[in-house]
Amino acid sequence: MSRCRQFLPPLLVLWIVCACLCSCQVLPQRNTSAPLSRFDDQVQLLLEKMTLDEKIGQMIQADQEHLQDINDIQTYHLGSLLSGGDSDPEAGNTLQDWTDMVDQYQQLALETRLGIPLLYGVDAVHGHSNVLGAVLFPHNIGLGCTENPELVKEIGRITALEMQATGIRWAFAPCVTVPRDDRWGRTYEGFSEEPQLVARLGAAATLGLQGDDLSDPYSVAACAKHYIADGGTTAVLEEVRGGRRNTGNNFGGEGAAGRKGYRVRLDQGNSEMSEEELRAIHLPPYISAIDAGVATIMPSYSSWNGVKCSASKRLLTEILKEELGFEGFLISDYRAINQVHPDYKTAIGICINAGMDMGMVPRQYREFYGYLKELVEEGVVPMSRIDDAVTRILRVKYAMGLFDLERCHLADRSLWESFGCDEHRQVARQAVRESLVLLKNKKQVLPLGKKATRIHVVGESADNLGDQCGGWTIRWQGQRGEVTPGGTTVLTAIRQTVGEDTEVTYQSDGAGGEGADVIVVVVGEPPYAEGNGDSADLSLSSEQEKIFERARQADVPVVVVLFSGRPLIINSLIEQADAVIAAWLPGTEGQGITDVLFGDYRPTGKLSFTWPRSAGQHPINVGNEEYDPLFEYGYGLSY
Ligand code: BGC
Repeated sequence: MSRCRQFLPPLLVLWIVCACLCSCQVLPQRNTSAPLSRFDDQVQLLLEKMTLDEKIGQMIQADQEHLQDINDIQTYHLGSLLSGGDSDPEAGNTLQDWTDMVDQYQQLALETRLGIPLLYGVDAVHGHSNVLGAVLFPHNIGLGCTENPELVKEIGRITALEMQATGIRWAFAPCVTVPRDDRWGRTYEGFSEEPQLVARLGAAATLGLQGDDLSDPYSVAACAKHYIADGGTTAVLEEVRGGRRNTGNNFGGEGAAGRKGYRVRLDQGNSEMSEEELRAIHLPPYISAIDAGVATIMPSYSSWNGVKCSASKRLLTEILKEELGFEGFLISDYRAINQVHPDYKTAIGICINAGMDMGMVPRQYREFYGYLKELVEEGVVPMSRIDDAVTRILRVKYAMGLFDLERCHLADRSLWESFGCDEHRQVARQAVRESLVLLKNKKQVLPLGKKATRIHVVGESADNLGDQCGGWTIRWQGQRGEVTPGGTTVLTAIRQTVGEDTEVTYQSDGAGGEGADVIVVVVGEPPYAEGNGDSADLSLSSEQEKIFERARQADVPVVVVLFSGRPLIINSLIEQADAVIAAWLPGTEGQGITDVLFGDYRPTGKLSFTWPRSAGQHPINVGNEEYDPLFEYGYGLSY
């Protein structure tokens, strides 16, 4: 069913107006640095020296793992490289491996005729999340519940420092999506379903990553993504062929609208809405990111009313660049250009002419180079478009001080010392405790006493950093178990918190709680990312339910800590548990959870997403005319 509307419902309009008025006073400070175009004189001088080949090279971002020859960096004058979700250094995944790899590539770029430095990009979406030992912060959904822009800014600053330690100066973050349907596998990448909160926190994250000035040696370029309405796509039912199920989570595919053999698909879909609704719901975060000085923006895989965002001149050039005055550059999503047209060359022409400035073309970068050159020579892509794209890319490189000869362009290895350090972990711990939302607390079972005789902990996720961190953690899809060194699981954090006389016992399957003072049950979703997390059935898997059931049979108070990338449909669990904490995907610092469990911090987190009563209510968002959720937007108890 289409959700296309010509006019916004009056209640929604009223709600948006109120939200705008409230948020005006608390928007983070606008970045006062001068516009990026202040470097245009320098850019112009360089541009005049560049051949067409060198210009096209600047517009290419290849994935390092798909480099056919390391010397391609020089041969094709590459302007950028990335590591996609699973693209690790060949040597391994440590801080040193990453730093050595990036430095080696940069060295090659510096040795080219014009010596234009590379911009290396990664998905540092909740900390420098590809590198072993980095501090990992809560995913954005948790940060949304903190409603704390200063904290989000500080997280950006620390992420930038940990990135700089590896010589990487470009984060494909913040994700400023406004997810409107929790069944979407990327819901957790968004701060909130409410545009103004996303706008505020997205700007704060941008300011944190980019610092007061992009030329600050400790700042990195940010990338607001995925433009636009990636979180506003219409759910479609897809047939599941050959018994293949909705992979990436335990929910199975048969739940979609209750029909066996079908699953729901939202990722990379089509957002069907008027321009008025698009502007009201999905544009505000980009306006505030641009105000905050965001250097780059990533157009979405998804479409708007049937037209791929990556191919839309209206969206890329007219709205972003001409109307909003965005002076940075647009980077396509991973192989997104391929989706625009079956013929790759035609697709490249469409995207570049629509306003795309750099192609994230992980594998087919040689073809991109050849085809774009042909398109220019044939007059399909005007030279003025190439010059505009390269100007934008070079502006960012100048603004970042990459041409400053006094400066070392390789990694600042003195930052290794603070990589994953305790000071950074303390900020992550603060973020965790502020992100937790207390959904239920019957008879004040929480906070727990530190002097209990025995606390029994159950659920595999209680001692599982991988589940705690979710997707985009070391691996693209995340990974269960000991995914990275240095963090603290909930179980370990509980053991560290209680007094000497308190016994902490643990049984992953839920049994063994008889006679304990309290049982802490840790259950939830296993890690997933992107479309693999699309699911209509947001209930707990039967294994997870069994853990809770076994715990309940012990007949002692049961406290549930829930790891999930979105509100789950778990009414009976919420009804039967004595206390429930929505912990989202909190990252490496489990002590933030014990801060709340044991009352060292009184819960302050407020739901940044509406919590539905039933699967049938999806999509449900604050401001809807019919709004009868289990927990409304902004809900959160305290003690
Ligand atoms: C995702 C982006 C990400 C890119 C690079 C894509 O699959 O949609 O969010 O930045 O990969 O890893």
